[in-house]
Amino acid sequence: MSTSQQPRSESGDTTAGGSGTTAGATSEPAAGPGYSGAAAAETAPAAAGEDQTGGRQTEQTEEVKLGPTGRPLREIPEPPELHRHGPATVLAMCNQKGGVGKTTSTINLGAALAEYGRRVLLVDFDPQGALSVGLGVQPHELEQSVYNVIMERSLPVDSVIRNTKLDGIDLLPSNIDLSAAEVQLVAEVGREHTLLRVLHPVMKQYDYVLVDCQPSLGLLTVNALTASDGVIIPLECEFFSLRGVALLIDTIDKVRERLNPKLDITGILATMFDPRTLHSKEVMARVVEAFGDTVFDTVINRTVRFPETTVAGEPITKWAPRSAGAAAYRQLAREVIGR
Ligand SMILES: Nc1ncnc2c1ncn2[C@@H]1O[C@H](COP(=O)(O)OP(=O)(O)O)[C@@H](O)[C@H]1O
Ligand SMILES: [Mg+2]
Repeated sequence: MSTSQQPRSESGDTTAGGSGTTAGATSEPAAGPGYSGAAAAETAPAAAGEDQTGGRQTEQTEEVKLGPTGRPLREIPEPPELHRHGPATVLAMCNQKGGVGKTTSTINLGAALAEYGRRVLLVDFDPQGALSVGLGVQPHELEQSVYNVIMERSLPVDSVIRNTKLDGIDLLPSNIDLSAAEVQLVAEVGREHTLLRVLHPVMKQYDYVLVDCQPSLGLLTVNALTASDGVIIPLECEFFSLRGVALLIDTIDKVRERLNPKLDITGILATMFDPRTLHSKEVMARVVEAFGDTVFDTVINRTVRFPETTVAGEPITKWAPRSAGAAAYRQLAREVIGR
C-alpha cells in the first residue's frame, strides 16, 4: 500500500522498527541524559525520579492530571464558528525525515479543520504523491498536477485544484513529475517564491492551506516555507527523532531572515507515541525539554488505524470517526486554530 511513499534512504532507519525496545541503539552518541538509562530503566523505573517531568510531581498528583507531554492536561476550547472565509493561513508540514507522519497529519488535520467549518486546501508537495493517494486520487492518472502550475506561469491554479469526497477540502495533487521541478526551478528568477505566487489567487477562498512537504530540505521545501505563515513539525517518538531537527530549524531561520519574515514555528507534533513504553515517554520528555511550549499538547499515538486509512483513501475522522486517533486530530485542529 504505502510503497509509493517510502522515504528516501536517509530515513530508512525509523519507519519499520516501531517497537520501543531498540536496545542496540544505546550506543547512539547523540543520546542525552534522558536516554542513558534506556535499557536499564525498563527494569528500574526509579531512574525516572530525577526526571524533569517527574521531579516535583509527587505532591501534586492528586489535583493535577498530567498529559502525555508531562504538562497538566487542559481543555482546549471549541473554535468559534466562522461566518466568512479567508484569507488562508498557510502551514507547511515539514520534516526532512520520511515516515514521521507528515502526510498522515496533513490529511487528518485538514479533515478535522474542515469538520470545524474551515475551508481547507491540501497541497501535495511531494513527488511521491502519498497525500493524493490518501485522498483516493491516483497520481499516475493525473493529467495536470502541482508540477504544471509551478512550471507554467499561464496555467491558473484553480484549473488543477480538485474537489475531494470530503466537504470543505480541496486538493492540489502531485505526482512524480514534481521531482523534475526541483532541478528546473533552479534556473528561474524568484525560484523560491514560485509556490507563493501559485497560491496567491486562491488564498481568499480558504481558511487553511496545508502543504505536505517532501522529506528533504531542497528547493521545493524552501518554496513551501516561503509561502507559509507557520510550520508544523511532526516528530516521531523514536530514538533518532531529534536528529536533523537542528538543521530543519536552521533552514526555517534562514528562510525567515532572507525570504519570509512572517514565518513562525506553529508547533511540534509528537507522533507515533506509544504510552505503554518507557522509551516513548523518554523521547517525549526530551522533546519537551528541547522545545518547551512549542510542542503541541496533542500527541498522536501509534496505531494501525492510520495505515488502514491510507488503504481506504480516507482521513481517520471519516474512516473511524470515534477512534482515539480521530479525537487526537480534532484536538490538534483546535490547538492550531487557537495558536
Ligand atoms: N500515528 C501513527 N501510528 C501508526 N502508523 C502511522 C501513524 N502515523 C502515520 N503512520 C504510518 O506511518 C507511515 C508513514 O507515515 P506518513 O504520514 O506517510 O509519513 P511522512 O509523510 O512523514 O513520510 C504510513 O504508512 C502511515 O500510515
Ligand atoms: Mg509524506
